[in-house]
Amino acid sequence: MSTFELSAQPREQTMMRETEAVAAVAAGAAGTFAIEATDVNIFYGQFRAVKDVSLQIQKNKITALIGPSGCGKSTMLRAFNRMNDLVSTARIAGEVLFHGRNLYAREVDPVEVRRKIGMVFQKPNPFPKSIYENVLWGAKINGFKGKADDLVEQSLRQAALWDEVKDKLKQSGLSLSGGQQQRLCIARTIATRPEIILMDEPCSALDPIATLKIEDLMRELVEKYTIIIVTHNMQQAARVSDYTAFFNMEQDRAGYLVEYDDTKKIFTNPKDQRTEDYVTGRFG
Ligand SMILES: Nc1ncnc2c1ncn2[C@@H]1O[C@H](COP(=O)(O)OP(=O)(O)OP(=O)(O)O)[C@@H](O)[C@H]1O
Ligand SMILES: [Mg+2]
Repeated sequence: MSTFELSAQPREQTMMRETEAVAAVAAGAAGTFAIEATDVNIFYGQFRAVKDVSLQIQKNKITALIGPSGCGKSTMLRAFNRMNDLVSTARIAGEVLFHGRNLYAREVDPVEVRRKIGMVFQKPNPFPKSIYENVLWGAKINGFKGKADDLVEQSLRQAALWDEVKDKLKQSGLSLSGGQQQRLCIARTIATRPEIILMDEPCSALDPIATLKIEDLMRELVEKYTIIIVTHNMQQAARVSDYTAFFNMEQDRAGYLVEYDDTKKIFTNPKDQRTEDYVTGRFG
């Protein structure tokens, strides 16, 4: 039994095991990671935005990436599903291992990568189509052949939106509130049956109530998926994530990883003074 199948254990004990697991991460234990970046450097032209980052993401957990503006969080997040490929000047060195294969190996299809590793953006971006078609969109492109009605219902239920939209599936996705639109985008991502969901500040355009709804949803989704979230909101990182990676910038603005640990540890007893200064609001 792996360290991460202990949900029936008392929370205290689970926390302890998780801390041990972080130690195991450091020791290089294999097989438990959803995805693993090794010595990643990312450049935009001559400019190095991300410097020497190695980060091992645990399965069925929420990992938060935090740090000051411009330290490379979004760039790093996009490296996990080859989204930086869409930027012509972007170049990556290092490896991102997913199921034991480097995502950047020549034979790997980036479109397939993005199906397995989906992304939810800062601003909800439903298409100007019906709610129903929005959910089906990615799945259809990927050749989904099953029962569309079932997939739509299932995905909307998982995104905690079904009850609010079940009677108006033919209405435009754009007719929904911001928080509902973001859950629709999550439903659309889920419908392609990903393993990992990347979220780049998914709540920054939402009010506090819609934000809490998305956070509750994330805690539900993580039973089935691995989630990596970028957030500027320290309370959100502390509330929602299991692990936190704190990034900072060098003088030349290259972003690097300062500390990666259990979220509780990062927020209550970090090892590094820079982490402490950041999480207590002394800079950033
Ligand atoms: N398409 C791009 N072309 C050139 N430089 C870019 C591009 N995207 C980002 N950068 C630069 O790379 C660095 C990291 O940017 P990134 O967006 O990853 O930071 P971030 O930590 O997500 O910041 P924020 O918290 O403001 O969203 C910044 O210096 C930024 O200006
Ligand atoms: Mg960003």
